Amino acid sequence: MAVPKLKSTGSGYSAEMDETEGASRDAIMALQTKRLAWSLQHAYDNVAHYKRVFDAAGVHPSDFRELSDLAKFPFTAKTDLRDNYPFGMFAVPRERLVRVHASSGTTGKPIVVGYTQADIDIWSDVMARSIRAAGGRRGMIIHNAYGYGLFTGGLGVHYGAEQLGCTVVPVSGGMTERQVQLINDFRPDIITVTPSYMLAILDEFRRQRLEPRQSSLKFGIFGAEPWTNAMRAEIEHAFDMDATDIYGLSEVIGPGVAQECVESKDGLHIWEDHFYPEVIDPETGQVLPDGEKGELVFTSLTKEAFPVIRYRTRDLTRLLPGTARPGMRRMEKVTGRSDDMIILRGVNVFPTQIEEALLATDWCGGHFIIELSREGRMDEMTVLAEARPESWDGSGLAVHAEKVSIFIKNTIGITARVQAVAPETLERSLGKAKRVYDKRPRG
Ligand code: DLL
Repeated sequence: MAVPKLKSTGSGYSAEMDETEGASRDAIMALQTKRLAWSLQHAYDNVAHYKRVFDAAGVHPSDFRELSDLAKFPFTAKTDLRDNYPFGMFAVPRERLVRVHASSGTTGKPIVVGYTQADIDIWSDVMARSIRAAGGRRGMIIHNAYGYGLFTGGLGVHYGAEQLGCTVVPVSGGMTERQVQLINDFRPDIITVTPSYMLAILDEFRRQRLEPRQSSLKFGIFGAEPWTNAMRAEIEHAFDMDATDIYGLSEVIGPGVAQECVESKDGLHIWEDHFYPEVIDPETGQVLPDGEKGELVFTSLTKEAFPVIRYRTRDLTRLLPGTARPGMRRMEKVTGRSDDMIILRGVNVFPTQIEEALLATDWCGGHFIIELSREGRMDEMTVLAEARPESWDGSGLAVHAEKVSIFIKNTIGITARVQAVAPETLERSLGKAKRVYDKRPRG
């Protein structure tokens, strides 16, 4: 059975949006209902895991009649994907896959995802939409510094940019000096990169004594890791550009699940004609009403090779009504993953909260790491924050660091030692930044 369609789409893209993207909320919900029925049946018929867990939960795809019925179906967790490594979750014969990607994860085996040609086409469409929502247009040059390879960032953006009609410069991550040279010489309009690596590129501009505000870059599409509005302000000011947030994960498709619109910059519109979001209470699994914060869960609506049913992302956010795309709900900027949450003496804290505190100063430009250690029986947090070159006087900025420590105490409620370190001392990420170094003894 073919994936249900809204209506036949016409001749590609208008300058602003495609037909489905501009559809009303009612039309989107009607489409989701049809597509969910298809996707549940497709997963049940073709993936042994889904048949087993649906049967065990006493539910059948035919029990799905309206959107709220989805809550009857079991969740899928990362461990389900790991247990079926490498190809056990595919719903089509392996020969029909045109590509696989894998997400490294922190430990153990990677998670392998696969795509049919139709899946790649959908991915290219949602990515093209995302680039357009960020301000990109046909004919622009796009400098793509997301990593190419098993990571979905590089190739996901690449195909979407081609689909939109952009000229792609497939730089991938790394070799920062050359990144800056290429930006200078090719004069791209758009850059796609993790926000933490964008800061490394910014440093390199300054090292080469180039004025970043004079660069050709007009739009930045930043994601693959949590970042704050304070970081957005930092980057937009430094480059005189518009910066928007892009979200996605390999299991759901890759980048292009949700994208912030440049005209509103008010959270990310989820491309709900392909990905159905729910937010749940991570403890009880209860579906939460829109507006309440919890764990984001996705069900794919159109994917052939790797359908996911109620996949628990571990990302924390809330759902909000659509604005710039009224038919599609928004998700608030992801502040962190449940896995990244640090519990320090009973208080929950995310690295993004530390980022905000540091960017509120004038001496730290956003390079930082968090070290956790144990002294006696007490857990200690040390924030190593790199000073901006123009602020560093060699003395250690102790008074400034102490101020941040007090600010953190007053706003987040934890005691953290803040230590200013010299420019260029912390290791730069080429992709996703590693923020937390846990040196506490295990067990
Ligand atoms: O990071 C896909 C991607 C590539 C997204 C390029 C955006 C740009 P994974 O490697 O599977 O896929 O990692 C997915 O990264 O569950 C989030 O925890 C985190 N993440 C992705 N985008 C954002 C974002 C890609 N905009 C995991 N804000 C997700 C916060 C993000 N976290």
